[in-house]
Amino acid sequence: MSDFSSSRQAFLQDVVSGLTQSPKSLPSKYFYDELGDKLFQKIMGLEEYYLTRKEFEILEKQHASIMAGVLSKTKSFNLVELGAGDGLKTKILLRYLKRKSEVNFTYFPVDFSGSALEELQINLEHELPGIQVKGIQNTYRGSLKIKPWENGLPNLILFLGSNIGNFTLAEAKDVLTHLSESCKSGDWVLLGIDLKKDPAIILRAYNDQKGVTRDFNLNLLKRINNELGANFVLDEFIHWPTYDPVTGECRSYLVTRIPQKVTFPDAGISVNLEAFEPIWTEVSRKSSPEEIENLAVEFGFRVCDIFTDSEDYFANVLWQKV
Ligand code: AVJ
Repeated sequence: MSDFSSSRQAFLQDVVSGLTQSPKSLPSKYFYDELGDKLFQKIMGLEEYYLTRKEFEILEKQHASIMAGVLSKTKSFNLVELGAGDGLKTKILLRYLKRKSEVNFTYFPVDFSGSALEELQINLEHELPGIQVKGIQNTYRGSLKIKPWENGLPNLILFLGSNIGNFTLAEAKDVLTHLSESCKSGDWVLLGIDLKKDPAIILRAYNDQKGVTRDFNLNLLKRINNELGANFVLDEFIHWPTYDPVTGECRSYLVTRIPQKVTFPDAGISVNLEAFEPIWTEVSRKSSPEEIENLAVEFGFRVCDIFTDSEDYFANVLWQKV
């Protein structure tokens, strides 16, 4: 089977499986096709979407302190990044490391989006020539299972952007199990995690005035229509984000105003949506500093450092595998 048809098959399977569950859901990793990547970049520039700005601030002001923990132990390592995206924040670290002539590293950006990965590699060749880059198109768990970067050198694994928040707690623990098992003793993980805060601020970040986040969610249905031949009526969907301060889960739903019968010609399946039935499209989970600390311990890491922005909206935490 060609790459295209096997990835299309997996897409179809994941979509049908999500839509035959109760409540109906769709995996958010499929947000990121070419248009989805563009919309997410637009989101990162929105006034309401504080996450990128805050993490950028932390990395810009504190990158030397963040890297000091690693560089005091080794000058040669692998820099792995799970969910590299456009690499905007990582470039702060890459630029800093490139300037240090005694430091040797290879950068392994992992991303599920082939278009994002391609663009990043081309961009790095222009902006930071000379850096060794080996892109890996895979999921987090897929890449952690095969760890193509492992060569005996210490690893620093970046997991920025609150990407770990895209999992429920149970799923996140599964990812952390894979992450922990992929680390040797002494390997580091730098996590970017969005912190629990005023619920109104969080909700606004996922419900922007211009409706970019709405388009971002609807693009998933559009993609399913285009690539899988389905027939969602996009205009009938309401974009409905919620935030639960107990679980820290910000969830996005698409709710149809009218009943819809959605057919998947290749699977010979159709799915009925009732009027006002929701499709759960995404979770963006927020954590407290204590919850983060407990996770480190549970998965065999020692907390080396915690860096936050001036308002304590966001945290970058450095863990080391025991
Ligand atoms: C890329 C997963 C961190 O959950 O905040 C932005 C994606 N979704 N707006 C997030 C997203 C809606 C983002 N992450």
